[in-house]
Order: sequence, then C-alpha cells, then structure tokens
Amino acid sequence: MTEAATAIAHPNIALIKYWGKADERLMIPAVDSLSMTLDVFPTTTTVRLTPGAGTDTVLLDGRPADGETTKRVATFLDLLRERSNRPAPAVVDTRNTVPTGAGLASSASGFAALAVAGAAAFGLDLDRTELSRLARRGSVSAARSVIAGWAICHRGTGAFAEPLPVSGIDPAMVIVVLNAGAKAISSRGAMRRTTETSPLYQAWAESSRVDLAEMRAALDSGDLDRVGEIAERNALGMHATMLAARPAVRYLAPATLTVLDRVLQLRGAGVPAYATMDAGPNVKVLCRSADAQTVAEALRATAPGCPIVTARCGPAARLAAER
Ligand code: DP6
Repeated sequence: MTEAATAIAHPNIALIKYWGKADERLMIPAVDSLSMTLDVFPTTTTVRLTPGAGTDTVLLDGRPADGETTKRVATFLDLLRERSNRPAPAVVDTRNTVPTGAGLASSASGFAALAVAGAAAFGLDLDRTELSRLARRGSVSAARSVIAGWAICHRGTGAFAEPLPVSGIDPAMVIVVLNAGAKAISSRGAMRRTTETSPLYQAWAESSRVDLAEMRAALDSGDLDRVGEIAERNALGMHATMLAARPAVRYLAPATLTVLDRVLQLRGAGVPAYATMDAGPNVKVLCRSADAQTVAEALRATAPGCPIVTARCGPAARLAAER
C-alpha cells in the first residue's frame, strides 16, 4: 500500500459564485456554481503517513501552519482515516505558488491537492466524483478544482463538481493582484455572516439560479460576451449581499473599483472584457484569449506595480506521477 503521495492542483475562478452553505459541518453549498480551472498558481501537496507520530503535522511553504489551518487539515484527514480504516497521523507538506488566503483561490487548489494526495496515501481508490465530494469537505470551491477546465458544482447533499463541455470560446482570465495580503475576514466567516444577516442574500441566491441557466445557454452557443455579462452581474450581486450584511463585509477596495472602471472603458472601446471578484480585492478579467495581451497592458497601466497574470483553462487535480 502506498503510504505517501504527491498531488498537484490548480485554482479555479467561479463565474457563477458559490456563496453560502446549507450545512456548515458537511460543507453543503446552498447554491450551484460554475467555474473555470486555471493553468496558473498550482499547489503541490505531499501526504505521508506517520503511524508512530502522535499528531498530524502541516507544513505550508516549508513552515508549520497556524493552529486554525492545522485543525482544518486534521479534520479533513479524519475523513480519510475513517474511510480507509487507518488511524495513522500524517505529515502534510503543501507548497502554494499563490499567496495563501488572499482571495486567489488557494483553498480551492489546496484542498483539491490534499484530497487527491490524501486519498492515494491512505490507499483509497476514488473516482473523480468521489474525489470532488471529498475535496468539497475541505472547501466547497475545491470540489471544482478536481475537474479540468469548465466545471459545474451542484448544490445540496452529496454535492460534487462535474465537467461542463464547452467549445467555441477561447477564454483567458487576466488576474490583477492588487493586494496579496491575507484577508481580514475569511470567506467562511464572511459567508456565514452574509447568510445569517444579509437581507439581500435570498434574492441573490434566487437570481443566481437564473444566472446559471443563462450562463449555460451562453456557453452552449459560444457567446463569450454573454458569459462575461452574466459572470460580472453574478459577482457584483454576491458582493452586494456582503455589503448588506450586518456588520458589512467589504472585500472590494478603491483600487478594485478603479480596475472595474477600466474594464468598462475597455468594453466601450470595443474590447470585450468582464470582471469577477472573490473574497478579496483582486480582479479577474474574463476576455478572449486573442485580446488577453491588450487587456493585460491596459490593466498594467491602471494598476502600476501590481502583478498581472494571464491564465487559460487548466488541468484537473492529479497525482504528481500522472500526466
Ligand atoms: C467567493 O470555497 O473558500 O471564492 O467552502 O468555506 O472553504 P469554504 O469557502 P471557499 O469560498 C469560495 C467563495 C468564492 C466563490 C467561489 O469560489 O465560488
């Protein structure tokens, strides 16, 4: 039996957002989501069983992780121990190429890599659906990083992500890293507060169903502009639910709005570009692959000194030995 395994996973960016849980312990999303897995910022995670050790050890970029992260990973490992009937502690060694906790989807790539490496190290033979369900228990967005390219994650009990066949569009995602620092409030805490206190949450969740149906139709017909319009309104709606939470959760910074203005100007100048933001100030701009350089240059001028990274569709989470 393999006792150590290494996996690589990439982040994904949701164009229809997951925001809110139906069950926090079981990590059941309250809404459907739809995403694109990227080809940048991979996370590489090794899980090694250490039967003699007293506890789990979690290393993040070579350093011991903080107490909260260690607990979250240990709780996840408990699922693997239960399923495999192997009580062994483990060492989890994770390396991110993206700043952790900055709203750049490190928990998506992180838990997808941990699910794939952990399942292999504990000797579990899981198919993609099972791996996606497992990753979801760590972070709901991670369920989608188990899938290459476009993925849809259904809400409700047993939720998992599955591939969404998309052809006829050649998208790029231009990422403007306005602030790589860790966020003031975790997405988990923020979404809890939103669902519990925001009078706008239910309305957004309902409109998100319409967004999803319309987005699927737009993807089917290869209409990138329509995809972008729907993604942008869905993201702004999600942030509106947070702004109305009590107390308000505000991830969008002044620099975020400056980039949003520039995106509007680009559209006005005939370059289709659409913005989406997650639990942080950073902006991801969806555009045609052929326009990515133009978009990146415009954004570089708008956000001088900020890293700009252009991503395209990326691979599914996989064991390091797999290709
Ligand atoms: C705004 O998946 O990080 O990025 O399930 O509590 O771990 P937990 O939250 P997480 O939330 C991601 C929220 C989002 C939107 C999205 O990726 O769909």
